[in-house]
Amino acid sequence: MSTSEGSAIAGIFWSYSPVVVITSKLDGQINGQVAVTVVTSSIVGSIPRLIVGIWKGNYTHSFIYKSKKLNIHLLKKDQFDLVKNFGFYTGRDKDKFKDISYKRGNNNCPVIEGVHSYMECDVLNAMDGGDMTPFLVKVSDGKLYSSGDWMTLSDFYNYAPPEWIAEYDQKLSKSIQYSMPIIHNISHEPFKP
Ligand SMILES: Cc1cc2nc3c(=O)[nH]c(=O)nc-3n(C[C@H](O)[C@H](O)[C@H](O)COP(=O)(O)O)c2cc1C
Repeated sequence: MSTSEGSAIAGIFWSYSPVVVITSKLDGQINGQVAVTVVTSSIVGSIPRLIVGIWKGNYTHSFIYKSKKLNIHLLKKDQFDLVKNFGFYTGRDKDKFKDISYKRGNNNCPVIEGVHSYMECDVLNAMDGGDMTPFLVKVSDGKLYSSGDWMTLSDFYNYAPPEWIAEYDQKLSKSIQYSMPIIHNISHEPFKP
């Protein structure tokens, strides 16, 4: 198998992943970002766990790393506005909740109204991934609002406005420039919960 084939196969895990908005709260501040790196990680139905990959350059990373609390929202198939609002800008520059209806979850993190579904989560553990952190989280609560399908990354690329895709691709190139110098610097120090 060649590296490019390996990349293509790894890409399958991107394409069919749900597009989620992750929110968190730290020291009275709230923030949120888009992600496609949430995967199931428990075989025990009554003890639901996920692994959530968050890039270190994102403002939301420090919220989750320090507060150890987050909410994960699946989106309806056409909620591209939420992807733009939470995934194209950083909360360092903009109040992303200015025009968003939300309530406070049991864990104090924002719960966005009108989404497909959401889960409240607590970080159990984490490891260093160089440019990102995979967090192991437990799901403590949640609500399913819609019986329809949720948005996948493939939906975003196929149906979001083309100029938005171009804008996102440019942003992604900048993120890759951030990742390259640090992606191999993996610390094996244990995470302190
Ligand atoms: C479609 C899409 C998928 C994304 N997937 C991820 C992801 O899996 N992990 C991640 O950390 N960031 C991902 N991002 C990038 C963040 O959402 C983006 O960098 C955001 O602006 C970070 O905001 P913040 O700095 O306020 O945390 C994605 C963005 C989009 C639009």
